Amino acid sequence: MNKALEPVKLRNIELKNRVVRSATQDYFGNHDGTVSEEQIKIHETLAANNIGLIITAHNYVTPAGKVSLDQNSISADLYIDGHKKQTEAVHKAGAKIIMQISHAGAGAMELDGNPPVAPSAVPIPFPASDATPKALTAQEIEVIIQQFIDAAVRVKKAGYDGVQVHGAHQYLFSQFLNPVYNKRTDEYGGSVENRFRISERAIAGIKKELGEEFPVFLKVNSNIEENDEAYYDDLIYVAQKCKDLGVEAIEYSGFNFTALGRQGLRKYYLDRVAAVRKEVDIPAILVGGIRSFKDMDEVLDRGIDMVSICRPFISEPDLISKLIAGQEESRCLSCSKCFVLPKRTGKRCVHHQ
Ligand SMILES: Cc1cc2nc3c(=O)[nH]c(=O)nc-3n(C[C@H](O)[C@H](O)[C@H](O)COP(=O)(O)O)c2cc1C
Repeated sequence: MNKALEPVKLRNIELKNRVVRSATQDYFGNHDGTVSEEQIKIHETLAANNIGLIITAHNYVTPAGKVSLDQNSISADLYIDGHKKQTEAVHKAGAKIIMQISHAGAGAMELDGNPPVAPSAVPIPFPASDATPKALTAQEIEVIIQQFIDAAVRVKKAGYDGVQVHGAHQYLFSQFLNPVYNKRTDEYGGSVENRFRISERAIAGIKKELGEEFPVFLKVNSNIEENDEAYYDDLIYVAQKCKDLGVEAIEYSGFNFTALGRQGLRKYYLDRVAAVRKEVDIPAILVGGIRSFKDMDEVLDRGIDMVSICRPFISEPDLISKLIAGQEESRCLSCSKCFVLPKRTGKRCVHHQ
């Protein structure tokens, strides 16, 4: 049997195999932030096709952290019921599912004419709004930390098997961690201890509120745009801190996965993540450019605990079943048109008819 199909036990969660569906915005959410029937079907299909752990798309913890109209919300109790239907459908089909919770920070839409908020007034690439972001006060940061904790309480009530805090790509928590976007001089800027503090407090608060045994995951970038060598040391700090906080596993992505995929590369961040995994003993999930059982073997053989996949599952939600049946690799071109196609055509992939 392929190693990816072996069961795995993390601290407080047992999974039937090592394959993860990475968080994926499908653009089919209802415009009031609730889960649509179509989304439930998407997750049900994934669950029926040999994926051990499904991670939902990022759900905003507050309307000020929302990035698109069709994004799901977990910012109030009214959203719990729709999510409950989704967790029930996935559990019935035989998989586990956790919710990714996020705040888009500088990437968010304007809310009631107000600019998005960020660690510092530094714009990010591809923001949802042209407005210059406003730097958060320490008091406003406290409010956001509480919004993450409140969101996680709802995640548990909705029947999810855990929660993933989104600290990757160019969203709020990664803006704090990355010195390119964080120019603060208070306890949330400067040293890595300070830059990771907002994530640390959110995770610690969730654990305190929900109990040590409720699974909490973190997604982070394994690389950044500038001074990436120094960022390696930051990652070691983050991994060690997550271990101390009782995080189940860290999922490592990167800021530039779209460009790397278009170059035809595979397993973009393997070398770096394997090095971090060797230095700090906390389970690691690698995402980015994993397309076949051969890729998965190469990742797992380097000491990484789980493999995570996004774009191939958009094209072929039954990819793992097909690989088991003998298909060699995903047909995904890593073209990333899945970011724009659903809005333009209603289709999710260039391969869909
Ligand atoms: C259409 C689309 C939507 C995505 N939505 C999310 C998301 O909601 N949260 C997140 O952390 N990453 C999101 N990602 C990034 C993926 O989870 C993943 O990190 C990245 O696509 C690299 O993996 P892959 O090469 O297997 O696609 C998205 C990617 C795509 C293409």
